[in-house]
Amino acid sequence: MSERKPVTLHRLRTMHAAGEKIAMLTCYDAGFARGCDAAGVDVLLVGDSLGMVVQGRDSTLPVTLDEMAYHTSCVARGNRTAWVIADLPFGSYQQGLEQALGSASTLMQAGAHMIKIEGGGWTTPLVQAMVERGIPVCAHLGLTPQSVHALGGWRVQGRDEASAAVLRRHAQELATAGASLMVFELMPSALAASLARELPMPVIGIGAGAAIGGQVLVLHDMLGITGAYGGRLPRFVRNFMQGASSIDDAIRRYVLAVKDGSFPDEALHGY
Ligand code: KIV
Repeated sequence: MSERKPVTLHRLRTMHAAGEKIAMLTCYDAGFARGCDAAGVDVLLVGDSLGMVVQGRDSTLPVTLDEMAYHTSCVARGNRTAWVIADLPFGSYQQGLEQALGSASTLMQAGAHMIKIEGGGWTTPLVQAMVERGIPVCAHLGLTPQSVHALGGWRVQGRDEASAAVLRRHAQELATAGASLMVFELMPSALAASLARELPMPVIGIGAGAAIGGQVLVLHDMLGITGAYGGRLPRFVRNFMQGASSIDDAIRRYVLAVKDGSFPDEALHGY
């Protein structure tokens, strides 16, 4: 595994075209970056979920750009070959183009290969401006945690026709703006599959079914750490520590299960 060539955007596109599922995990530090990379994880996401699983906050909203840059640099130092995506945190792009470009540059200089931005519609010009300036962008639709209060909680998105139509429009606009990867979070599996079929780029899901280009989980969730601290694991999570001999083994099992399509299991993890 450690001899793998660096994962590039070209490689991710080739994998997708060949029908190979992309295995993504969140990652926040150098030690786990080393382990995930060695276990064959294709993409490390320095997610602002670190606000919840590392900092103990009850949402991602308080996470700052400086904190994201710090964790991105830790992950970049531990990683050798995986593709690294960093989240633009809440408040680092809402003021507009100049702010978004400055924040994206900070994260790229910290070691990210790609920037992830939540939401569609008003974010489309920001995505286009980043792409035009050589910053690869991953869009994020469905349940966008930075909008948890506006969305009325952690709820599955796109259940009715009107909201599904908005998601479809946003996804198409973001694709036209040049986003080269997309994350769908908490969406009915059938809707996610149908949107993904219409899009040119790989779509990575979390709680969005199996019939898309790959999967992402929060590292702490798939290692059962959230559950170990009394929290409830969401329906779409599998605890890969169960039956594993070590953390490395659990991460390898996750990669294998994503690649062979055994995770997620629609009956257990789908909506
Ligand atoms: O911050 C994060 O971990 C994420 C994933 C849930 C996709 O955005």
